Amino acid sequence: MRMYDVILKKREGGELTPEEIRFVVEGYTKGEIPDYQMSAFLMAVFFRGMTDEETGVLTQAMAHSGDMVDLSQIQGVKVDKHSTGGVGDKTTLIVAPIAAACGCRVAKMSGRGLGHTGGTVDKMESIPGMRTSLSEKEFVEIVNRTGISVTGQSGNLAPADKKIYALRDVTATVESIPLIASSIMSKKLAAGSNCILLDVKAGNGAFMKTTEDAVKLAKKMVAIGERNGRKTAALITNMDYPLGNKIGNALEVQEAVDTLRGVGPADLTEVCLALAENMLYLAQKGTPDKCRAMALTAIRSGSALERLASMVEAQGGDPEYIFHPEKFGEAPVKAEVAAREEGYLHRMDTEGIGITAMMLGAGREKKEDSIDPLAGIVLCKKNGDYVKKGETIAVLYTSDESRLKDAEEKYLNSVQIQAEKPAQEPLIYARVTKDGVEEAGA
Ligand code: URA
Repeated sequence: MRMYDVILKKREGGELTPEEIRFVVEGYTKGEIPDYQMSAFLMAVFFRGMTDEETGVLTQAMAHSGDMVDLSQIQGVKVDKHSTGGVGDKTTLIVAPIAAACGCRVAKMSGRGLGHTGGTVDKMESIPGMRTSLSEKEFVEIVNRTGISVTGQSGNLAPADKKIYALRDVTATVESIPLIASSIMSKKLAAGSNCILLDVKAGNGAFMKTTEDAVKLAKKMVAIGERNGRKTAALITNMDYPLGNKIGNALEVQEAVDTLRGVGPADLTEVCLALAENMLYLAQKGTPDKCRAMALTAIRSGSALERLASMVEAQGGDPEYIFHPEKFGEAPVKAEVAAREEGYLHRMDTEGIGITAMMLGAGREKKEDSIDPLAGIVLCKKNGDYVKKGETIAVLYTSDESRLKDAEEKYLNSVQIQAEKPAQEPLIYARVTKDGVEEAGA
């Protein structure tokens, strides 16, 4: 088989055979297919799409490209969650400790930042000493000991996704339903949990810009999970503006800690409670109301914060950064962004705001770029807030002053101010399970 022929077939809209898909995944993982051919293949998939059959085979091939974690040595229900990616989306750092504090075992494999969105692994690495590259043995041992572990795609876990994900990030091939579904579900299947909750973001800061596309992606992933014997559900959540008020790696850890202390922003807290409720419900911890009450208690009692600190410590990080997040300090360069006019913040171009954070050093433009853990943005005003001309709408942080000017321009171009107050949008649009789509409306 020749990679050239497979690229050509997909470019012309053909349906690939399982053998062809496995040839691509195995060849690329082993380094036999070069980046330039894989990039062309990904772009062909981006434009031509894949059938459900092809997406299922691709997911399986990627999941089996390395070890399939055996969580059978862990007692109890193992629950996982995954977000399709957004701006300011630090929900894993909040929801996973809540679920662990409520008696679930959370064995989660996360990714790095992708495109304009942040990644949990990069956020965790802003904590000094924190290791995100765990062997399977350590991963299982930490979940058994603390109830929770979040690892990167270390060792030999879904190595195909690790390579493909990094390549998609720099070749403009992220926003593709079959590529996102196979990337996420290959990690979820390889990580071995019984229950999987997906947070599918919809809006101008998400890879899925419309709720219709988000529902399509959610249905595909739920079907893959259920077909592979995992209880799977998805929430469709709003990404028309950043989640919470902080964007950037250390900044987001700080905001996650605030939320676990019960003093986080209202939108982030509400989305996290809904995710936690649904994780606990999947794990059969009770009715939805009971699950929500358990999640609230885990925050109020401090037990969820304790869980996060235990995980950090077990993975080599300094738990003092969780109990005293002011230890992170601030980036050496900071600049306030002033409103150019008076009125209501009307439309936030959330992708543009995510790109602003990248420009400040919080994300990567090339695979090999390193991250500035203290870079990012603190939003002082969000959708629907009234601002006076000259009032600070955001504060930008970076370690490299030369990045500021362009970033400030990008930020200002990413927010619109208008005379009319915008209508309030729901935070959660729908819930997707194997039985169908239920509209929400939180
Ligand atoms: N998260 C992933 O793990 N993969 C994607 O493709 C998008 C979001």
